[in-house]
Amino acid sequence: MLPEDLRTALDRALTRFTPQELAEATARLTERYRTGISTGGNHLRSRADVAAYAAYRMPATYAAAATALRRAAALSPGFAPRSQLDAGGGTGAAIWAAAEVWPSVEKITVIEHDPHVIDLGRRLARGSRPLDATTWRQAGVRAGLDRPAADLVTMSYALGEIPEAEQAQVVRWLAEDAAMVVIVEPGTPVGYATVAAAREVLTASGLSVLAPCPHDGRCPIEPGRDWCHFSVRLPRSPLHRRVKAGTLSFEDEKFSYVAAAAVPGPRPAGRVLRHPQKRKGVVSLRLCADDGGLSDVIVSKRQGDLYRAARDVEWGDGWPPR
Ligand SMILES: C[S@@+](CC[C@H](N)C(=O)[O-])C[C@H]1O[C@@H](n2cnc3c(N)ncnc32)[C@H](O)[C@@H]1O
Repeated sequence: MLPEDLRTALDRALTRFTPQELAEATARLTERYRTGISTGGNHLRSRADVAAYAAYRMPATYAAAATALRRAAALSPGFAPRSQLDAGGGTGAAIWAAAEVWPSVEKITVIEHDPHVIDLGRRLARGSRPLDATTWRQAGVRAGLDRPAADLVTMSYALGEIPEAEQAQVVRWLAEDAAMVVIVEPGTPVGYATVAAAREVLTASGLSVLAPCPHDGRCPIEPGRDWCHFSVRLPRSPLHRRVKAGTLSFEDEKFSYVAAAAVPGPRPAGRVLRHPQKRKGVVSLRLCADDGGLSDVIVSKRQGDLYRAARDVEWGDGWPPR
């Protein structure tokens, strides 16, 4: 669910445009994303396009980033970041998400290369502490770019827009002096491959994976056969439904992510990789396990408390419960 301040600010920003303008801009946007992602991220061309992006995608990228950050926070007790750097920050989904998860954040820098996007991000944050004090820096994210030190570094739905040959260097740059790095990408095979490669770079930079993986070893998922991703359900506002020309009152956003930290966290023994299959008296769980492998576990009613816990567990949760 979007924070109330953000929902109100988004509604206000969108009233500048007619529903027709937003719907046309959304159609252009969808077409551009469909036909040419990874072309340097130049998908947003006009103010209406930027507003349409915010209406069409920001609630979903916010929900994905907030879920990833919450899972990382659950495994880093005592972590209270004071500063955040958000690379390719767009209209600020990940800074809103971090503010929700860690109220300790007070100094925020967003690096974003599109001035229209920055303009809307800044307007959305106006009047909301500490987001309205964010430094919005117009620059292309690249290795070697000078940047403020930050405890928390995020890159949400943006690494995949950097040319592939530069991504590893950018991830090394994100990891420099960070206490925690969280990277989120679309939950597609390509998004997963981007995250999996970033994860290798983060561990080679000395960070330990907090989530989703219960280990720092090789990812057991075979590229091309499957991809590690998760899902978050979010409500659609009436405006959102109109812009998306959809009728459902909710949508499921699929995302891939990795959260890594300088201080290793109390990782669970396994992570649930699919919707649990719940049948009469048994729950089947597909797990990524801390021994570095994948396993299918069946929990039956005879297992009492463990079975009751399995009835409640969801895709993306740690297993077994603590
Ligand atoms: C898909 S949007 C995601 C925005 C936001 N992080 C979110 O999660 O909603 C990608 C953003 O990255 C920006 N971007 C892409 N390549 C970039 C680069 N090399 N440097 C800075 N910003 C970049 C785009 O302008 C766009 O605003």
